[in-house]
Amino acid sequence: MSQRSRSRALALAAALTALGLLAGGCSDVGGGVRGTPGASGLRDPLFPKLGNGGYDVGHYGLTLAYDPASGRLDGTVEITARATQDLSAFNLDLAGLTVGGATVDGAPAAYNRAGNELTLRPHEEIHEGREFRATVTYTGVPEPLTDADGSKEGWMRTADGAVAVGEPAGSMTWFPGNHHPSDKAAYDLTLTVPAGLEALSNGVRTARRTEADGRVTTVWHTAEPMASYLATVAIGRYATGTGTALGSVPVLTAAAPVAKASAALRAQIPELLARQVKRFGPYPFSATGAIVTEDGTLGYALETQGRPIFPAGSFDRPTLVHEQAHQWFGDSVTPASWRDIWLNEGFATYAEWLYGEEYEHVPASTRFAEAFDQDANWAFPPAAPPTAENLFDPPVYQRGAMVLHQLRGAVGDRVFDEILRGWAAKYRHANATTDDFTAYAESVSGRDLGTLWDVWLYGEGKPPKP
Ligand code: ARG
Ligand code: ZN
Repeated sequence: MSQRSRSRALALAAALTALGLLAGGCSDVGGGVRGTPGASGLRDPLFPKLGNGGYDVGHYGLTLAYDPASGRLDGTVEITARATQDLSAFNLDLAGLTVGGATVDGAPAAYNRAGNELTLRPHEEIHEGREFRATVTYTGVPEPLTDADGSKEGWMRTADGAVAVGEPAGSMTWFPGNHHPSDKAAYDLTLTVPAGLEALSNGVRTARRTEADGRVTTVWHTAEPMASYLATVAIGRYATGTGTALGSVPVLTAAAPVAKASAALRAQIPELLARQVKRFGPYPFSATGAIVTEDGTLGYALETQGRPIFPAGSFDRPTLVHEQAHQWFGDSVTPASWRDIWLNEGFATYAEWLYGEEYEHVPASTRFAEAFDQDANWAFPPAAPPTAENLFDPPVYQRGAMVLHQLRGAVGDRVFDEILRGWAAKYRHANATTDDFTAYAESVSGRDLGTLWDVWLYGEGKPPKP
C-alpha cells in the first residue's frame, strides 16, 4: 500500500477498533497475544466518558508554545505509561485542536478522532505490563469548555495571555491525556511565550532561558503524582515573588497587574500553610505559592496543585485557606471518582470553619448551625451529587462540612484530629473513595458510625436539628 492509503487504512481500523468492531480480531505479529482496544471511558458515575482504560500514565512531558496575539497553541505531549492489558489501541481525551501526528515507542501510530476521544493505534500491539511512550503533536486555538453548571474551564484567553485550568474536564482542551482523576502522574512542562510575558505552572521552576528568537522558555517540574484536573498554566504580565515556607519549600507567587494589592496576603502564605501543617500533617508537595489572575476570565478559585489560582476578586484569606487545605484533601488524597467530590469540598470547607475558630473566634458549631438552616444545603446528600451539574453545589461544600462536624461531635476533638491527619497520611498521593473514608474513620475511632453516615452523608432529607 502507498504510505497514504496505508495510513488511511490504519486510521479506519483504529476507528473500527474504537467502536469495538474489530475487538479481538486483530492478529498479533509478535508473541501470540491478542490485544484489544483500551476502554474509551472509565465509567465515572458522573462523567462516564472521561479518562480511558488499558493503561496507566506515569509521566507527562508537555512542550507548549503560545502566541497570545493569535491565541494559537503549539503542543507536544510525551506520555509514559504502562499497559494494564494487551493493547491493540488506546484512547486519549482531547477537545478541539488539530492533531499533526502521533508515535508509540518512536514509530508512527495511526490515529483517529471522534468527539473528545483521540484513538492511537500503535504499529505493534503493546503487551500487558509493558511501559510505552506515546507522543502527540497538536496545534490550534484552544476553546474553553462550558460545564453543566454554566461555568467555564480549560484554556481561556486573557487580556495579555491565557489561563488554563481543568476541574473537572477542561485539561482536555489543552493537552491530550488520561483526564480522569484516578490516573495521576508526574509532569514536566516546558512553556515558550513572547518576550516580556511570564509563564507559570505547577511545581518547581527548573529553568528559564531566552530563545534565539527572543521568546522566553520556562520549565516546570511536578514530581509528585498530579491528577490532570489540577494542572495549570498562566501566561501574561505577572509580577512574581519568591520565598520559603516550612523551612525548605520554595514559594512562588504571581500577580496580574490588577492584583498589586495581593502582595500582603501573598506574604502570609508561609504562615497560613504552617498552620495547616499543624492540623493536617506534613505538606504533601515540594512547591507552594499562588497565582492571582485578572477578574472576569476564571470565574472561581481553584486548588491547582502546589500553586492555587485565584481571580483577583476572590483572593482573600478564607479562600486561600480553602485552596491550601485542598492540597491535602483533593490534590494529595484525590477522589477515585467525581461522585466522591465531597472528600475535596466538604473537607476544604471544614478547614475554613477550623480557621474561623482559630482566627476569628467563630466556633465551628456556629457555622454548622448557619449551614443547617439553609435550604440549599439539603438538595441532595453529599455522597451522591445526582448529576454533573451538581458537582459544586452547596450540599457538596456545606453539607459535606456538616458531615465532618457531626463526626467531630461523635468522636471528640482528639480522635477527629487523628482521623484528618491519618486520612491525609494513609492516602497521601493516592486516590480514595467515600467508603474508604467511612471505613477509616470507624477504624480509627473504633466506633460503628453507620447511623451518622446514614443521616448526614447519605440521607435524602433534612434530619431534626441536633
Ligand atoms: N474546586 C474549586 C474550589 O475550590 C471550585 C471549582 C468550581 N468549578 C466549577 N466548574 N464550577 O472550590
Ligand atoms: Zn474547593
